[in-house]
Amino acid sequence: MLKIERRVCGCDYGASSWTTRSEADRMAVLLELRPGSRLLDVGSGSGWPGLYLSRTTGCDLALVDLPVFGLKVAQTRRMKETSNSSVWLVLADAAALPFAHASFDAICHADLLCCLLCKKAVLRACQNILRPGRPMVFSVISIPPRLSESDHRRALEAGPEFVASKSSYRSLLAQTGWTVEEQQDVTESFTQLTVDRLEAERAYHRELVLSAGPETVERRIKNLEERRDVLADGLLKRELFVVKSAR
Ligand SMILES: C[S@@+](CC[C@H](N)C(=O)[O-])C[C@H]1O[C@@H](n2cnc3c(N)ncnc32)[C@H](O)[C@@H]1O
Repeated sequence: MLKIERRVCGCDYGASSWTTRSEADRMAVLLELRPGSRLLDVGSGSGWPGLYLSRTTGCDLALVDLPVFGLKVAQTRRMKETSNSSVWLVLADAAALPFAHASFDAICHADLLCCLLCKKAVLRACQNILRPGRPMVFSVISIPPRLSESDHRRALEAGPEFVASKSSYRSLLAQTGWTVEEQQDVTESFTQLTVDRLEAERAYHRELVLSAGPETVERRIKNLEERRDVLADGLLKRELFVVKSAR
């Protein structure tokens, strides 16, 4: 899996989002990271992109995830790397972040909001702990409005578990006190990533079957094919938001 990730995304952190290395590099600039600044990566999984951003910019970092599995992988990796920055690993719910008010200079999350139900609570929790005027950068997958019932069903099946949202992200952000500075459509690179991933999984098919078993591999390939087709039909989109506190 790491070989595939290196080939497709340019990283090997065990990522489960669709953030490539070039997108992570763009996030570093948008987040204005430098040594001494304090970054929070919410829903960090095994440390992507937070650990990479801390290593490349020298910023201090807190990783938050539920459950503990990904944090343990991140901890092992962190212990192997030499760095002067501080890294905290925090087992916590993204909707109830256990940090003091205004204690971070930057926040990022990669495809987190489409993996949970309580999107507004997470946006509010982030708002409380970010210093006023500082950036939060995040990617999210969503379903475009006004699809037919059958297209909407296809999008739901091919998207992440909680891809559905009653309100648009613009509206959720406005309701929770955020101002949108930039909203970039990155669906094209998401589509390319899906196609590249499919090709890579086919190329490493034999090795994957040996480690994960044929049923798992076939299911993964089928899911990727469905997502590729749904993306080709314009039924899912992925966006990158840069937001600041409006309060
Ligand atoms: C799409 S994955 C992204 C993981 C990682 N940032 C990456 O890029 O590979 C979303 C992550 O959010 C975490 N997550 C989901 N719900 C959460 C919650 N309520 N609180 C904290 N983390 C959560 C999951 O465990 C998962 O690691």
